[in-house]
Amino acid sequence: MKEKINQLIEQATQRIKESQDVNSINDLKVQYLGKAGEITALLKGMKDVPNEQKPEIGKYVNKARDTITDLIQAKMNELQQKAMNAKMMKEQIDITYDEKDATRGSLHPCTLVIDEVLDIFTGMGFTVANGPEIEMDKFNFQLLNIPKDHPSRDMQDTFYAGEDLLLRTQTSAVQARTMINTKPPIKLVCPGKVYRPDYDATHSPMFQQIEGLVVDKHVTLCDLKGLLELFAQKLFNEKTKVRFRPSYFPFTEPSVEVDVTCSVCHGVGCRICKGTGWIEILGAGVVNPKVLDSCGIDSTKYSGLAFGLGVERIAMIKYGIPDIRILFENDSRFLKSFK
Ligand code: PHE
Repeated sequence: MKEKINQLIEQATQRIKESQDVNSINDLKVQYLGKAGEITALLKGMKDVPNEQKPEIGKYVNKARDTITDLIQAKMNELQQKAMNAKMMKEQIDITYDEKDATRGSLHPCTLVIDEVLDIFTGMGFTVANGPEIEMDKFNFQLLNIPKDHPSRDMQDTFYAGEDLLLRTQTSAVQARTMINTKPPIKLVCPGKVYRPDYDATHSPMFQQIEGLVVDKHVTLCDLKGLLELFAQKLFNEKTKVRFRPSYFPFTEPSVEVDVTCSVCHGVGCRICKGTGWIEILGAGVVNPKVLDSCGIDSTKYSGLAFGLGVERIAMIKYGIPDIRILFENDSRFLKSFK
């Protein structure tokens, strides 16, 4: 009997020593100390041991149980400690890591312009509205006084997905959507991507616009000029002057192209402004009463002003970028210069 117990202890010691993880140690615990375990069987078998041997054998079996229990507990502690150390090693933060070498991103110049322009207008009480890039003909053209056969559609030809769906050519579409659903006063700016059939050094088939709309009682061309002058002074510098030139848009009457004094030469004439001292930055006008009426706003009571600028164009002027395509190439050397 003693012989058998010795063998059991020896075998258990060896197997506990060899086990590498918490699961296998748990299995050993069941195998030796569990209800149907080998030590438990020895204890149960005590009743068959002759009475005179009971005290000695009993002590021996108890000692075996204690030895194996202690070994298992010690191994378990060791393995748990090991697992904890491994976890901590994995989760540790290297506070000596030199962050200077990490590649840190920067905002795209167009994003910088959008943020700045929206900041200026929200500071003047405008709200920001968004709309879908795949737009209905109704909102992109018809409600803006551009019927199906209107020649001005030529300038803004686009991709059509069926009769009435198209890639929007101007974020004015968002203004039409808003006017139909909102009672004046309205004061909003709509940023977003638009699509046109142009491609050269200053035009891209996809570009971004920010358009603005104000509808209220007694809104005039004078308000438009004051508003845009303040805007230009905040965007460029406080000496910036604004000039209006007559133009044509179907949705505004009168319509104007808006120039600002060149922020590089302050109006003297340089390479950037092609010697004129002025740079065109946007189109604008007084909202055509026809547009108000077709959007359900009474044009005898209300009037409006609208303007639209190209984000890439502003970025090119502000940062002296000679070709619009540079903005879309995403050359990291170019982008990094905006950090
Ligand atoms: N929607 C015009 C364009 O994309 C810009 C514009 C907006 C002009 C509002 C006048 C008024 O060219």
